[in-house]
Amino acid sequence: MTRVALVGATGVVGEEMLRVLEERRFPVDELTLLASPRSAGRRLRAFGAEHEVRPATPDAFSGVDVALFSAGSEIARALAPAARTAGALVIDNSSAFRMDTACPLVVPEVNGETLDGHAGIIANPNCSTILLVMALAPIARAAGLRRVVACTYQAVSGAGARALEELRLQEDADAAAKTPRATVFPKVIAHNVIPFVQAVGEDGYTTEESKVRDETRRILGRPDLPIAATCVRVPVWRAHAEALHLELERPLTPVEARRVLGEAAGVVVAEDDLPTPREVAGTDEVHVGRVREDRAFAPGLALWAVMDQLRKGAALNAVQIAECAMGVGAESAESKKMVGGPEA
Ligand SMILES: NC(=O)c1ccc[n+]([C@@H]2O[C@H](COP(=O)([O-])OP(=O)(O)OC[C@H]3O[C@@H](n4cnc5c(N)ncnc54)[C@H](OP(=O)(O)O)[C@@H]3O)[C@@H](O)[C@H]2O)c1
Repeated sequence: MTRVALVGATGVVGEEMLRVLEERRFPVDELTLLASPRSAGRRLRAFGAEHEVRPATPDAFSGVDVALFSAGSEIARALAPAARTAGALVIDNSSAFRMDTACPLVVPEVNGETLDGHAGIIANPNCSTILLVMALAPIARAAGLRRVVACTYQAVSGAGARALEELRLQEDADAAAKTPRATVFPKVIAHNVIPFVQAVGEDGYTTEESKVRDETRRILGRPDLPIAATCVRVPVWRAHAEALHLELERPLTPVEARRVLGEAAGVVVAEDDLPTPREVAGTDEVHVGRVREDRAFAPGLALWAVMDQLRKGAALNAVQIAECAMGVGAESAESKKMVGGPEA
């Protein structure tokens, strides 16, 4: 008997989480859907039944076995302790626990072994981090990593339901020759790109760029790995992309790199070499292409990687963690094949 609570059920990640749980036949015997008081009473369909959304409060976790949180850091910090006290395993999609050494930060294909001995709260990494480490880990195992430069092209749905609505309204305004308004993003995102995700820190890097560096170092077990990221929001509905430039410890030809990437769990080398968000949206894998020798780093490689950030970058990774941690479902059966050390 598995009782599952979903905090943030009405959000873009929450909705995807419901789809992923159903598709992977996660053994859900009881489902509790939680969101803000604004959504109380809404009904969502899942597992062949209608479920009423309830306000997320500390007493909502009684009898819950696993609580999937997808409602931002503030809610995670406020309610995860209550879920733990009620005996639930917490898997959180926000940044609240990602750098807390008591909470594993897990991508099952890359560092699944860090789930062993967890203390009840497991953090799901940032979506751009998941894309990056899924592409880096196979190359790091084959040739070692010295340095990483990453430029991200991040979809609007990465900023949630309100951001998607903003893009929709701005596209309509542009089509009607009206002035588009920006409230979620600092500038109009329709027909534009914005080199800013979240907020800027004192060092001039955005919080997203710092998360990508710090979380990648933690997941790969390389606290000093030089990583520089530029994170850019693009007017794409769904699926993030990254252009990567890697300095390696040992030479790896593009042909060898394509082979190790193609053999890695959860990674697909695109047949036409040109994976794009439009085709990758709705898929579970990280799709790579344009693998070539880097012109700035030697030995080095340059490549392009794309992933549906609502699935592998959020909902799917969280459900895979739940499957591994609870020994249920698809991931548990495959976990031996999937889990491997970060870097040889
Ligand atoms: N979007 C992505 O691609 C992505 C990827 C990785 C991680 N994440 C993380 O996942 C989380 C959710 O993101 P999202 O994109 O799904 O955002 P979203 O579409 O804005 O949804 C936010 C969810 O949180 C709920 N919520 C807001 N305030 C709340 C409160 N006071 N109490 C209880 N619930 C509350 C909302 O409920 P109402 O509908 O009632 O407001 C909604 O269900 C965030 O931590 C985000 O950083 C997102």
